[in-house]
Amino acid sequence: MVEDFNQIKKDFEFTDEDVENIVKLKPIFEQYIDDFVEKFYRFVFRFPQASQFLKNEEILKYHKEKIRNWFLNLFSGKYDLDYFLKLRKIGETHVKIGLPTHYVNASINFVRRYIIEIIDREVEDRQERNRYVASIGKLLDINLDIMTIAYREQELSKYAEMTTMEKKIFAFAKKFSDVIDLFILIALVIVALSVFFLFGYDLYKLTFNLVGLEEGILSVLGSLLILWAVGELMSEEIRHLRGGRFAINIFIGIALAAIIRKLFIASLGTDSEKKAIDLLSYSAVILSLGIVFWLISKRESS
Ligand code: HEM
Repeated sequence: MVEDFNQIKKDFEFTDEDVENIVKLKPIFEQYIDDFVEKFYRFVFRFPQASQFLKNEEILKYHKEKIRNWFLNLFSGKYDLDYFLKLRKIGETHVKIGLPTHYVNASINFVRRYIIEIIDREVEDRQERNRYVASIGKLLDINLDIMTIAYREQELSKYAEMTTMEKKIFAFAKKFSDVIDLFILIALVIVALSVFFLFGYDLYKLTFNLVGLEEGILSVLGSLLILWAVGELMSEEIRHLRGGRFAINIFIGIALAAIIRKLFIASLGTDSEKKAIDLLSYSAVILSLGIVFWLISKRESS
């Protein structure tokens, strides 16, 4: 694909006029190169996992050198096959080390904002400024497009390597999993309605003094807690249906909410021996679920 780099330029309407505009910016950005490199890494090190990739002084130094050259080359005016092959190589290296494509997208967005800010500062004429911004914008989009080809190819190659039978099973499994997700969502709506009913019933018992005031309030609070947890689970399932990752700790959250409700109710028991055993066992379950919840959240955030 990169070999057809002239077509890529045409697709982005990247013309000789754009090249002329960009080259005019070269002397400006040469003055800013140190400032750019410093701000670029200040931006990149805000990513939670940046230091896992730029993990030691040696790699960081190497990368700084590469970023410097890449940035200066943006304004070289020479966008030939060699330029495109270099961009593809950057993408391949990033894919090889498992760098999230999101980091690359966000970094390019930073570069775009940085360049616009400097153009705003250095170029007085508004029309000239707009022309420069449009031209460099096209070049940055081309850069991003080529740098992320390797990510797309990686996905496609996994699929392309499958046999016809495997592809059929893959497509069937995908459809089946979509149906299961939809079924779970419908089941969750039914569960949420039942919890609504439970909440209404608890409220009814409290209002008509069918239970003591303390027990009534704690039961209402407990069913509200479960309702909140089911709501969280539904939002998570909807996010999953839209392509997001499912957060398993929401399930643990629901179990916690249900046991806390039980604990509320058990705390009102009159038989002190049974009450002590109930409270101890519920507390032990809450502690274990809490630890599992904490461990999963810790693993997901790292
Ligand atoms: C505008 C965005 C970026 C550009 C233009 C860029 C550019 C480059 C270049 C030119 C290389 C060397 C490729 C090679 O010689 O094979 C490289 C490698 C690498 N990049 Fe980036 N990069 C970007 C974003 C990032 C980010 C955000 C990270 C990490 C948070 C990162 C981490 C790395 C690492 C770890 C390597 C491999 C270094 C090594 O070989 O030891 N890059 N990048």
